Amino acid sequence: MAPKTNGIGVQVEGTRICVVMVGLPARGKSYIAQKAQRYLKWLSIPAATFNVGNYRRHDSPSPSADFFDTNNPVGERKRRAAAEAAVQDMLRWFKAGGVVGILDATNSTKERRKWVIDRVRDEGVEVIFVESKCDDEALIMANIRDVKTTSPDYKGQDPEEAAQDFRNRIRNYEKVYKTINADGDEDDLTYLKIMNVGKQVIINRIQDYLQSRIVYYLMNLHIRPRSVWLSRHGESMLNLEGRIGGDAGLSYRGDEYARKLPQLVLESVGSDRPLTVWTSTLKRTINTARHLPPHYNQLQWKALDELDAGVCDGMTYQEISDMYPEDFQARDEDKYNYRYRGGESYRDVVIRLEPIIMELERSEDILIISHQAVIRCIYAYFMQKTQEESPWVPVPLHTLMKLTPRAYGTEVQTYKANIKAVSTWRGKGSTAKHEDPAPEGGV
Ligand code: F6P
Repeated sequence: MAPKTNGIGVQVEGTRICVVMVGLPARGKSYIAQKAQRYLKWLSIPAATFNVGNYRRHDSPSPSADFFDTNNPVGERKRRAAAEAAVQDMLRWFKAGGVVGILDATNSTKERRKWVIDRVRDEGVEVIFVESKCDDEALIMANIRDVKTTSPDYKGQDPEEAAQDFRNRIRNYEKVYKTINADGDEDDLTYLKIMNVGKQVIINRIQDYLQSRIVYYLMNLHIRPRSVWLSRHGESMLNLEGRIGGDAGLSYRGDEYARKLPQLVLESVGSDRPLTVWTSTLKRTINTARHLPPHYNQLQWKALDELDAGVCDGMTYQEISDMYPEDFQARDEDKYNYRYRGGESYRDVVIRLEPIIMELERSEDILIISHQAVIRCIYAYFMQKTQEESPWVPVPLHTLMKLTPRAYGTEVQTYKANIKAVSTWRGKGSTAKHEDPAPEGGV
C-alpha cells in the first residue's frame, strides 16, 4: 500500500505526535494550541486539542484559587484525574487515526512532564513540549483581562474579584513551576520554548519533518494587533462572458472598483497607516491594485494565482459540462479534491498557499488581492471552514473583507464598493453562466 500523505506531502503513516503545552496560566497556551490545531487541520493533518481545564470543569466547575494549591489534597487528586482523563481520550483518539494531539494544560512541573512522557511514549507517540514563558507584565495583564471575561471558571462573577482570584491561582502555580530544563536534567526532551511571545525561542532536539513544521509555524506567530484584508480583483472581461481562468484585463466596472479601492481601504483601516499589498501575477489583480497609494509596498506572488483549470481554462461551465460531463459531475461531488485535467484542485491550492500563510502569520497589516478559489482557501484557514464547505464559500466581486485575529477566532467585516458586477458563484449542479445571485451571508 502506498504511504498515506497529506496536504504538505508529509508521510503521516505511523507518525503520531503529542504536543504538550507548558507554562503558567495566562501565558497564551490555549491561543497557541488553537492556532496550531487550525493550521494542521487546514493542511489535512488530523489534529485535536485536549484541554485539561475542560475535563476538570466536569467535576469542579468554578473552583477558587486554593483548589490549585499543591498542599490541597482534594484539588491535587481532582486535577490529576482530569489530566488522566484527557490523556486517555487523546490516546483513544490516536488509535482512531489522530496524528497531532495537543495536550493543553500547565504541565508546569518536571514530575508532571515525566508522567505525560511515560503515559504517551508507551503507546508509541512522540512527545514535543511547547512552553510559553512570559514575564512581560503588560502581556500577562492583557491575558488576565481576557481570561476573566471569557473563562467559564469565572462565569457570572464580579470581574475584579475574578481577576484577583486568578492572580492568586497563578501564584499557587508559581510555587511549583519549573521552566523546562531549568535544572539541566530535561535536556533529552524535545521542546520549543517561546519567550515573551517570540522575542526569543529555544529549540531542543526537534526530530522529524512534521515536528519541524509545527515548530517553524509556532515560531512565526505573533500577537501584535493587525488585520488581513482580502479582495478579489475587479470584474474581468472573461468574468463578463462567464469564462474561467485566463489572464484578461478588467471590465469597465472592474476598473471602477480599482479606482474605488483606495477609499474603501482607507475607510476600513480607519487611518492612513500603510498596508503591504500582495497580488497574484495575473493582470486583473495587478490592475486592481494600481490606484492604491504609492507608499503601499506591493509584491506579486505566483502562489496567489487563480486555481489552474488545466484543459478547461477559458471555458464556461456549460462548455465544461458539455465536453467533460463526468469531470463536471466529479467536481461537484468532491470539489475540494477534484483536480482539473492538467490543472489543480483546491487541495493543491492549499499546498501552494502554505508559504503565504506562514508569511502572513509573521507579518502585520497585509492586503491580498487575488482570486475566487485562492481567497476561499485563505478564508478557510482563518475561519476554520471544512473541506466540504470551503470551495463553495461565496466571495462576491467588488467587496473588501477585513479579517482581524482575536484571542479565540477571527472577526470579519465586509465593505461593499456598491459597484455592480456579475456573480461568479455557481451552485452545485448548475452550469450558470455566472448569473446566479450569490447566496446571502456571503463574505
Ligand atoms: O469564475 C472566476 C473564477 O475565479 C475562475 O477563474 C475559477 O476557475 C473559478 O472562479 C473558481 O471557482 P469555482 O471553484 O467555484 O469554479
